[in-house]
Amino acid sequence: MIVSIDRDGDIALVTVDNPPVNALGQALRQGLWDAVGALDADPTVRAVVLICAGRTFIAGADVSEFGKPPVPPHLPDLVDRLEGAAKPWTAAIHGSALGGGFEVAMGCRFRVALDSASVGLPEVTLGIVPGASGTVRTPRLAGVEAAVELVTTGRPVKAGKALSMGLVDAVVSGDLRAESLAFARKALTHPLPPPISARPVTSPDPAWWDEQRKAIAKRAKGEVAPLRALDCLRIAAEKPFAEAMAHERATFLELRASDQAAALRHIFFAERAAPKPAHLAGVKPREIRSTAVIGGGTMGAGIAAALRDAGLPVVLIERDEEAVQRGLANLRSIFDGAVKRGRLTEAQARARMDGVTAGSDYALLSGTGLVIEAVFEDLAVKRAVFARLGQACRPDAILATNTSYLDPRLIAEGLPHPDRFIGLHFFSPANVMKLLEIVPTPTTSPETLATGFALARQLGKIPVQAGICDGFIGNRILKRYRAEAETLVRDGTPIAAVDAAMRAHGFAMGPFEAQDLGGLDIAYLQREGARASGQDAPETLGDILVRAGRKGQKTGGGWYDYAPGDRTPKPSDTTAGLLAGRITAGPTLTAEGIASRLTGAMAAEGKAILEEGIALKPSDIDLVEVHGYGYPRWRGGPMFAAEG
Ligand code: 3HC
Ligand code: NAI
Repeated sequence: MIVSIDRDGDIALVTVDNPPVNALGQALRQGLWDAVGALDADPTVRAVVLICAGRTFIAGADVSEFGKPPVPPHLPDLVDRLEGAAKPWTAAIHGSALGGGFEVAMGCRFRVALDSASVGLPEVTLGIVPGASGTVRTPRLAGVEAAVELVTTGRPVKAGKALSMGLVDAVVSGDLRAESLAFARKALTHPLPPPISARPVTSPDPAWWDEQRKAIAKRAKGEVAPLRALDCLRIAAEKPFAEAMAHERATFLELRASDQAAALRHIFFAERAAPKPAHLAGVKPREIRSTAVIGGGTMGAGIAAALRDAGLPVVLIERDEEAVQRGLANLRSIFDGAVKRGRLTEAQARARMDGVTAGSDYALLSGTGLVIEAVFEDLAVKRAVFARLGQACRPDAILATNTSYLDPRLIAEGLPHPDRFIGLHFFSPANVMKLLEIVPTPTTSPETLATGFALARQLGKIPVQAGICDGFIGNRILKRYRAEAETLVRDGTPIAAVDAAMRAHGFAMGPFEAQDLGGLDIAYLQREGARASGQDAPETLGDILVRAGRKGQKTGGGWYDYAPGDRTPKPSDTTAGLLAGRITAGPTLTAEGIASRLTGAMAAEGKAILEEGIALKPSDIDLVEVHGYGYPRWRGGPMFAAEG
């Protein structure tokens, strides 16, 4: 039974049980609709508690129904029916009350939340606005400011904050059922508060709304839902309830059918499918309880931080005592940064460092279950490290490399247990970026591969399996993207026009600004290495700049000039002079034309990657681009965009 009714004296207990997350599909809506009717008709019931089985309260509308025509009873009608029920309903919230789930809770007269619960209206993250009074009831429940924060960011809030914002009436700990029944019983001894739809709302002045609009437009970078949500909230604050409801519903239905919503749904389901690939169904991963990182530089420190954030103990190995101290300092500065930004307390940062054992002696690794190598990108150095790991580690330890471009098969040559070797390609900063490319070699065992995916889950990362080629999935597409951007410049498109077009398309930065930030020398050195080994690596415009000492922001200039202490890119006469001989006047492209050329090149490379079996499915490529390279989420990734 999706909806069942029990009794506790004169209080009815309605339990929703619709695994996995109690999403509001048609059957659940109907079940709740009927429950209101049945309980209204029962004279022995004085109040109702709505509670959910499983891991969470109702987590929202059923997103998988969004591509289909809506079927009654519609959610806004159900919320109205709950609110109009003859007996007061109390929502008993554990886990997450999100979207339609929170709207159902607002249809109830009261909301009681477990202290670990959260509530929110994440609809904008799916390219829509709340569709069942979220924009209309929330301002009446908690005020306009709180509603604007909740709805336009889509970020859920924890129970304690929800209480202080007025979104819930009580926060309880322990037995939610018993506490909610007690709350509902006590509430009967007082006059009932008015239903939310009947409560007054005060609109701030027009200047406040204008400020909000500006701030949200800046954040949204082309995403339409947050601004449309703001419009709904303003109408809710300024117009009668019914008019605001009609406007919200029309906006919801319009956006639900939009390209942006389709793209965001695509990423939503791709993200949830990524950690459980079908080909590993039934393969049991190894349990990881102890970890080590070799190399405490940019990546090693970031990976160690990610492991510590997940509560795993870390052994950090460096070359010598001085490098050990540098590695520890790198790690400490990551946690110090988190303290400064208020993400960790001093005590938590100390505990993170206390879980790290650092040294240069490989004997420290004798008990470790997973070792991740992040030393210099140099085959000989890496092979020497793995030769030592082969001797020093437990025979069942999993050994991973974080190489960006080297062939993992060559790194693993000669290892005593090649089945336990794998590529785990993190992205910088490794404790922040969600993407993890998982690169098995032909000898990697399914158990080792499954452990890579399990580690990603443990670290809260999005895992994508990649085959072996130059740059795996992400860096290979990046190379093609940059090459196409250079082609546009060679054909006469100004550097700044390319970057502006990609920003307008929704990227945080264009390809040239991004290179200036990261440094042009890394890719240059890699090309030089390829040339030295006899491979064909035609000269790029970037090579010309690096040879002239223009490596990016760190040298005061690259594609652009930078004033000291200022990161604003300024078109550069020096660059123009250096490249003049390579540039011919070509057709003038619009911003859309530029973006279409560059995203088209990404999709073409993605297609080749799929054909070669380097990526297993198009949505994996989309996840790589969205989570590793700043591709606008609301465009769904290059493969999704190319299909549309
Ligand atoms: N609809 C359909 N399926 C959903 C769903 C939803 N709203 N939310 C989660 N699922 C599915 C997932 O696809 C996954 O399915 P699978 O097991 O077959 O892969 C399963 O439920 C479990 O999901 P998670 O792996 O995400 O589970 P977690 O326990 O990690 O997280 C959660 C639980 C926090 C509830 C998380 O699932 C979540 O954030 N869900 C989305 C909530 C949301 O966006 N709600 C708003 C929907 S829009 C709406 O309500 C419109 C309304 O205003 C009209
Ligand atoms: P880095 O130069 O910042 O750090 C490398 C560290 O390894 C140094 O601290 C060095 O002392 C240490 N080291 C070198 N030889 C060692 C040895 N034999 N034993 C122990 N420690 C040793 O380099 P970075 O950027 O951290 O890169 C490390 C690896 O990660 C490379 O393979 C790189 O390709 C890869 N990578 C880098 C990314 C980036 O954005 N920087 C992104 C993803 C992967």
